[in-house]
Amino acid sequence: MKHELVERNTGLLGALILVAISFGGLAEIVPLFFQKDTTEPVEGLRPLTALELEGRDIYRREGCVGCHSQMIRPFRAETERYGHYNVAGEGLYEHNFLWGSKRTGPDLARVGGRYTDEWHRRHMYDPRDVVPESIMPAYPWLFERTLDGRATPAKMRALKRLGVPYAEEEIAAARGEVEGVPEIDALIAYLQQLGTVLEGAR
Ligand code: HEC
Repeated sequence: MKHELVERNTGLLGALILVAISFGGLAEIVPLFFQKDTTEPVEGLRPLTALELEGRDIYRREGCVGCHSQMIRPFRAETERYGHYNVAGEGLYEHNFLWGSKRTGPDLARVGGRYTDEWHRRHMYDPRDVVPESIMPAYPWLFERTLDGRATPAKMRALKRLGVPYAEEEIAAARGEVEGVPEIDALIAYLQQLGTVLEGAR
């Protein structure tokens, strides 16, 4: 009889479904806040250097995330191609995440060290030069523009507030490290460290 009441009343049914699902959600989600392997950095994790950080911002500005994910899922087809799946402790210093949701090009989560800097330079200047069938756009302006570093310390300070362990000396030295450096060098520095922290990940 009572069940009939619930079945005939969609509002009540909806509310009760929500309650039931929340319990499942709580049981799955809450432990993640306390588990070591989701809340602690993997060994060797370090914040991005000033140059890598600027490279990351170029990656965002140029919309690379629209064609490239940085999220290897724990499926065989992915791990065989790209390397070890992403683990939470690798991404603790990432604000915001660049996981992406579109793969027009390959996943880049572990592209660091896969190619030489010179390969990246040629590829970014004209992808067809090294991968003839590539549909990736060319980014020649990155070779002409240089960084001024004016905002770099402020970016690092903002990240520090979010828990990224930058030392004050690093922040103070940041502008000098990036000022006058071609944007392409910053982008490549960023790409070359992607996914390299996790031991034996590639
Ligand atoms: C329109 C989609 C598109 C955009 C935007 C794009 N790419 Fe690509 N990218 C591709 C495709 C397709 C490939 C595979 C062919 C190739 O290697 O050129 C690729 C390949 C790559 C590779 C080689 C990956 C590997 O494992 O072989 C790197 C590195 C890369 N892209 C970096 C970037 C960066 C950095 C940006 C932003 C500045 C960017 N891409 C923007 C489509 C894109």
